[in-house]
Amino acid sequence: MASKNASRALRSSLRQLSAPRIQQRTFAAAVSAARPAWQKAATPAFVQQSRGMKTVDFAGDKEVVYERDDWPRDKLLDYFKNDTLALIGYGSQGHGQGLNLRDNGLNVIIGVRKDGQSWKEAQQDGWVPGKNLFDVDEAIGKGTIIMNLLSDAAQSSTWPHIKPQLTKGKTLYFSHGFSPVFKDQTNVDVPNDIDVILVAPKGSGRTVRTLFREGRGINSSVAVFQDVTGKAEEKAIALGVAVGSGYLYKTTFEKEVYSDLYGERGCLMGGIHGMFLAQYEVLRERGHSPSEAFNETVEEATQSLYPLIGQNGMDYMYAACSTTARRGAIDWSARFKENLKPLFQELYESVKTGKETQRAMEYGSRSDYRQAFEKELEEIRGMEIWRAGKAVRSLRPENN
Ligand SMILES: NC(=O)c1ccc[n+]([C@@H]2O[C@H](COP(=O)([O-])OP(=O)(O)OC[C@H]3O[C@@H](n4cnc5c(N)ncnc54)[C@H](OP(=O)(O)O)[C@@H]3O)[C@@H](O)[C@H]2O)c1
Repeated sequence: MASKNASRALRSSLRQLSAPRIQQRTFAAAVSAARPAWQKAATPAFVQQSRGMKTVDFAGDKEVVYERDDWPRDKLLDYFKNDTLALIGYGSQGHGQGLNLRDNGLNVIIGVRKDGQSWKEAQQDGWVPGKNLFDVDEAIGKGTIIMNLLSDAAQSSTWPHIKPQLTKGKTLYFSHGFSPVFKDQTNVDVPNDIDVILVAPKGSGRTVRTLFREGRGINSSVAVFQDVTGKAEEKAIALGVAVGSGYLYKTTFEKEVYSDLYGERGCLMGGIHGMFLAQYEVLRERGHSPSEAFNETVEEATQSLYPLIGQNGMDYMYAACSTTARRGAIDWSARFKENLKPLFQELYESVKTGKETQRAMEYGSRSDYRQAFEKELEEIRGMEIWRAGKAVRSLRPENN
């Protein structure tokens, strides 16, 4: 029902993006006028600013954010001039962060196992065996900063072998708090005489790379687990900028891993997939066609409404829809929240107690994990909803 209005609103907002600034202001002002005063007051404000660091008021809570402006390329090159960045693992993050570091001119080498898929992929990306591509041990031996971007399960299984190589003076870098935070399960007990830091891009490694190439930067979390030199935080921020971050949000290893595992199981991926399936199935059981069920569940969401939330927030999306759609959606959002909150509490508990870690480790340690995952993807691809989606996508204007 929201569809016509929202599609119209999206088309209109897209037109606004290419429209002269004066018209954009008129449209923005119209939507903004629909916002209550308290919401206007909650707009983030820079309450304090020194070069490269801001304390930002996020809806009443003040948080520290670092920005890349304080770390221009020359300064990065000078800061890391005596370092060799040994990036081990070349999955999604290894690819994105590694190529960005290389393009920034830093001395970066890759360490992966020689018989693996990553070895081939690294070569395809121009890493040269013996020059800047080595097996894991050799890379760690040469590195001063060890960037552990192996899969989380592999970080655990390889740890007994890797730990003795992390000698005093080296720095250990992660992109997830997983291994050290859940050390009782992962056995990743970091040596107590090295700095241990984290930069966790809030997006896939492919996005880390794409945004860098576009001259933009991804948002990342930054944290220090152990500061031996007194320079750990500074090093983490500099590395965060070097791998392609635009803004770095200060957090802790614990907070990063809890929120990350929770979010991806919830609204980011698992929860949203579950909602799509539940809504679609009811529509089909009530006699709606696959195309109608898909359009009202996924297509309109991803193509029309969610981009509006992304652009300007939930109130903006509601404001762009019909009075009828708005009324029902606001009423039902309370029911959904009420019913789903206990499930989210259960999920957070499952993360905090390490149950999710256990599950991820068991799955990721299977020798056939790639094949097992492919089998699950095949099942998802084969679901009626996603087969219907394929047909609907083929009818999008840009595909015709
Ligand atoms: N992907 C994301 O979007 C994302 C976002 C933020 C943070 N992170 C974090 O970044 C880190 C890396 O994640 P990722 O997604 O880039 O990589 P991944 O796909 O989870 O891991 C791939 C790498 O691990 C290697 N590997 C797996 N098992 C191994 C073993 N037993 N011995 C040696 N190497 C092994 C693979 O090498 P082979 O090819 O040889 O198997 C490959 O290079 C993780 O801590 C993850 O939580 C990921």
